[in-house]
Amino acid sequence: TWQDVPLAPPDSIFKLTAAYKADTYPQKVNLGVGAYRDDDSKPWVLPVIKKATKILLNDPDLDHEYLPITGLPEFTAAAAKLILGSDSPAIVESRAVSVQTISGTGANHLGALFLSKFYHWDGPKQIYLSDPTWANHHAIFKNVGIEPLTYPYYDPKTIALDFSGFVGTLESAAPRSVFLLHACAHNPTGVDPTPDQWKQIADVVIAKNHYVFFDCAYQGFASGDLNKDAWAVRYFVEKNVPLLVCQSFAKNAGLYGERVGALHVVPPTKDAADRVKSQLSVLQRSEISNPPSHGARLVALILTGSDLFEEWNRDIKTMAGRIIAMRKELYRLLTEEFHTPGTWEHIINQIGMFSYTGINPDQAKALIDKAHIYLLSSGRISMAGLNSKNVRYFAENLDKAVRG
Ligand code: LMR
Repeated sequence: TWQDVPLAPPDSIFKLTAAYKADTYPQKVNLGVGAYRDDDSKPWVLPVIKKATKILLNDPDLDHEYLPITGLPEFTAAAAKLILGSDSPAIVESRAVSVQTISGTGANHLGALFLSKFYHWDGPKQIYLSDPTWANHHAIFKNVGIEPLTYPYYDPKTIALDFSGFVGTLESAAPRSVFLLHACAHNPTGVDPTPDQWKQIADVVIAKNHYVFFDCAYQGFASGDLNKDAWAVRYFVEKNVPLLVCQSFAKNAGLYGERVGALHVVPPTKDAADRVKSQLSVLQRSEISNPPSHGARLVALILTGSDLFEEWNRDIKTMAGRIIAMRKELYRLLTEEFHTPGTWEHIINQIGMFSYTGINPDQAKALIDKAHIYLLSSGRISMAGLNSKNVRYFAENLDKAVRG
């Protein structure tokens, strides 16, 4: 048995975490996985999550019964408001369909499965992904029989957005194509369209009747402001672009292992929404039956309690602010202290948790092998892995790697 099963390579992101953990070098640095760390390289349990956990544990009525198939209603309703805005036409007109999922990955999977079964495909089942994108996107769509295609997104020459390439593909794609767009804080490049560019993207999407599959895993991390980071999604909903949104609370609530997320599908009418919800329930039932309760209860508490919500916003600003401070310090070290060859403005222009440094796979490998600094071979670094104690060590070694 199983002689024909080929050996698969380990996951490129989580293999770095394992290698970092196994490394005994004292100055080792993990810039691989996108997970927030504090100034001591430690995971950060958000103070608001500590408070919400206490509230939950003190609730004498708390049980471990099954949640409804589509999740905790207080959670899904509040999560929809967080991303769509409480005055969103989709919410006011009761046509936002929200289902609790196994974090953002589960939302992507459920959304992909739903499209695979129910989208009116005119031709082969295909989705356009940004080049590059989160590697898991490719696997998630392939798993449900949707072929991933790519649209130009990042231009290595300018280390910035290839806007004309992006719009060119939106224009040349067959009408009613499906495009995956990162709602904010693009993973892995840290390069987002400007509001003006988003408007132009929406114009072409509307003209071509494309379907938008938004992935929003970093709301709050782009600007430190939850509303600002939801701007593109809300703009597209206002313009009646047919779309769905995948939402994760892994990063912005620091609930990585709790797997808290939601899928929001926005059909044009309440009647269509009811039908969509019924089918999502059927799919969810066969896959996970009911989503897990603990993390969803925590997020429901912080989204619906006004004091907790304010505190959460402050925690997000703390995380986003520390990352921005690290961008500035890295930029300063490279340009003013080490005079590293090349331009480094992109370090401060990029946003969110990630930075595409622009270094090549050999230089990335040299950082791992010679300096015990773990990063993706694409040159992506998680800025959240830098802190006041290791940023100089990283800059110094990046300088060496660039000089060869
Ligand atoms: C990442 O890109 O590092 C994160 O989204 C974690 C993951 O699941 O890959």
